[in-house]
Amino acid sequence: MNISVFGTGYVGLVAGACLADVGHQVTCMDINAERIARLEAGEVPIYEPGLTELVTQNVAAGRLHFTTDTAKAVKESELIFIAVGTPPDEDGSADLRHVLAVAHSIGEHMDDYKLVIDKSTVPVGTAEKVQAAIAGALSVRDVSLDFDVCSNPEFMKEGAAIEDFTRGARIVVGTDSEHVETRMRACYAPYNRNHDKLMFMSVRAAELTKYAANAMLATKISFMNEMANLAERLDVDVEEVRRGIGSDPRIGYHFIYPGCGYGGSCFPKDVQALERTAREHGYHPALLSAVEQVNHQQKQTLFAKLQSALGDVSGKTIAVWGLAFKPNTDDMREAPSRELMEALWATGAKVQAYDPEAMAECRRLYGDRHDLILTFDRIQAIKGADALVICTEWKAFRSVDFAWLAGELSEKLVIDGRNLYDVEDMTAAGLRYVGVGRNNLRSTLPA
Ligand SMILES: NC(=O)c1ccc[n+]([C@@H]2O[C@H](COP(=O)([O-])OP(=O)(O)OC[C@H]3O[C@@H](n4cnc5c(N)ncnc54)[C@H](O)[C@@H]3O)[C@@H](O)[C@H]2O)c1
Repeated sequence: MNISVFGTGYVGLVAGACLADVGHQVTCMDINAERIARLEAGEVPIYEPGLTELVTQNVAAGRLHFTTDTAKAVKESELIFIAVGTPPDEDGSADLRHVLAVAHSIGEHMDDYKLVIDKSTVPVGTAEKVQAAIAGALSVRDVSLDFDVCSNPEFMKEGAAIEDFTRGARIVVGTDSEHVETRMRACYAPYNRNHDKLMFMSVRAAELTKYAANAMLATKISFMNEMANLAERLDVDVEEVRRGIGSDPRIGYHFIYPGCGYGGSCFPKDVQALERTAREHGYHPALLSAVEQVNHQQKQTLFAKLQSALGDVSGKTIAVWGLAFKPNTDDMREAPSRELMEALWATGAKVQAYDPEAMAECRRLYGDRHDLILTFDRIQAIKGADALVICTEWKAFRSVDFAWLAGELSEKLVIDGRNLYDVEDMTAAGLRYVGVGRNNLRSTLPA
């Protein structure tokens, strides 16, 4: 099939490369000319495991193309995926500007039937707005052409996006048209061979399903963080509680790791947007508001714990391991590390940071500043530091010589936002170790 994908971010580029890999002819379009130039030069502008190889192979095979030419991307394809960003508006609702701009340009340039597929995460009712935007542009041209709009939300997670796209649990499609169902079945057939993963439902149900999924996962995280905060005050190790509840199949082990709060480009904005949708429809979403509030507080605990343990952090040098919002990505959107670093800088502390993939992104976000030193490896980040804070659970941080660490850090303090280490091993090495929900250092807990 001839497919165009608008937006070459984490979702669009992965979807485009995966669809090309199973034989479709795919054109990836972006308005960001620099991004397209880099892709055309064989450089993948984001870090996602396996993506560079997949893009390279499919470009070489002549199945994957890049362009900034909207008309070309519209005219060449029957299926058009919209995978552009939907950032939060000032009031928390999803900003549909980019989605509707794509819809408008489809109406401006199409000259035969198109199936337009909303893959961006968009509020209930957006497919109708996309439909209206295309129809509006067609009526300005005074032409009448057939088209359909369906919803096909994306459930991939950064760091495992290719695996999720190719072997995900389900492919949700919102449509009430048999023709659309047939075309979507054909599009996804190569990824739908072992059992039927395609779930057809109403457009509005598909739109809400995406938000419900993210809100549910965010709820699990905030719930566990609330339990961790309680455990700290009750002299309980929350890791024991996690194992205790995770063993119940009704609860399960997924997404119940206590930590320093969720970040990324999805959970924070999607919970906010769903909350906003609820309010617009006269419903007070008490649970969603609490999920967001707990997460906001949780992101501040790293700094609060550091301050409790050190008294005054001004003038200190703090090593930070992990900048990305989670492992296996370079994405720092809404990352807990950012809240920590910004709080440290505001008090006059210096940061020495290391992340296996997000160094360039950190430099792009914060530029050159005297109180940020980005080091070549995790060891250099520790040299001359007073304390260490772990923000991201990269595998590379899991194994550490604790005695060496105790020898290097002048305050012998480790604040672990991801509970990577054993409390007893750390204390045996002479370190002051503060995890999440593990009250081994009561005096350092914020009041
Ligand atoms: N990142 C994720 O893990 C993930 C997972 C599931 C769903 N989503 C959703 O998918 C959507 C895209 O997310 P992302 O993380 O890939 O975004 P992103 O910010 O990484 O990329 C968006 C891209 O769209 C491009 N763009 C903007 N306007 C355009 C236009 N008019 N025409 C063509 N390109 C345009 C931008 O230049 C950018 O390259 C969002 O709605 C997001 O919520 C994201």
